[in-house]
Amino acid sequence: MKEIIKLEKVSFCYKVKPILQDINLSIDKGDFIGIIGPNGGGKTTLLKLLMGMLIPHTGKIQIFGKNPKINRDKIGYVPQIYRIDKEFPISTLEVVLLGAIKDSFLGFFKKEIKNKAKDLLEKVGLKDFIDKPFGKLSGGQSQRALIARALISDPEILILDEPTANIDPESERAIFDILINSNKQRTILMVSHDLHTIVNEVKKVITVRQFATVLKPKEVCKHFGIGLYHTPIIAKKIRGKKQ
Ligand SMILES: Nc1ncnc2c1ncn2[C@@H]1O[C@H](COP(=O)(O)OP(=O)(O)OP(=O)(O)O)[C@@H](O)[C@H]1O
Ligand SMILES: [Mg+2]
Repeated sequence: MKEIIKLEKVSFCYKVKPILQDINLSIDKGDFIGIIGPNGGGKTTLLKLLMGMLIPHTGKIQIFGKNPKINRDKIGYVPQIYRIDKEFPISTLEVVLLGAIKDSFLGFFKKEIKNKAKDLLEKVGLKDFIDKPFGKLSGGQSQRALIARALISDPEILILDEPTANIDPESERAIFDILINSNKQRTILMVSHDLHTIVNEVKKVITVRQFATVLKPKEVCKHFGIGLYHTPIIAKKIRGKKQ
């Protein structure tokens, strides 16, 4: 497998308190990674570091062997919170097109890009909302539109920060089907608090709580599902080594 994301001894703090410490990770092409951890554990911060939006205080991050800022356009991002004025007059199609802004000329898009945006909206089940104001979409619908926006540039890596938070089970299933399909062409990293989904859908799990641990989905302790992000698995591993 080809390693496309590499973190070596990465640490980060916003102020004095360390948020992430000594993070070593290696992510391969084609991986589908679920990221879990408690509120404030540092998950969103980790994603922002991967995209070059934040700079590590120590250590090194490489995306396709280069500084994250250089390869930022290889990453599609669905943020945890997308702040937009509900009354702002922008259609769902226009929101998706924002993901292809670098291919526009003074804000005008070629017909094929517009068609691609429409196709993507159809794929995520929003065919009837293409020309509707984005502000009128429900939470689950706007989340699907944001996934379409992240996919329009055909990114090699797709990063999603809690794409299914506050979403009904049917829409959640629809979003996962889109992601599983999308994983055939790209590497996916997704933050979720839904342990059931994480265990059943992803190939690897990273737990983030100041430190990061990589687990196989079946190694994830069921306690995590009720918010007890303890570290018995790591402790066991260390004990195992010593014995
Ligand atoms: N811009 C900022 N300035 C200062 N502190 C910040 C900033 N952003 C986040 N933090 C702090 O960093 C810590 C990690 O935040 P982060 O958003 O990465 O957590 P998270 O794991 O994504 O949590 P959640 O599950 O709630 O989304 C928190 O204690 C948070 O208060
Ligand atoms: Mg977060």
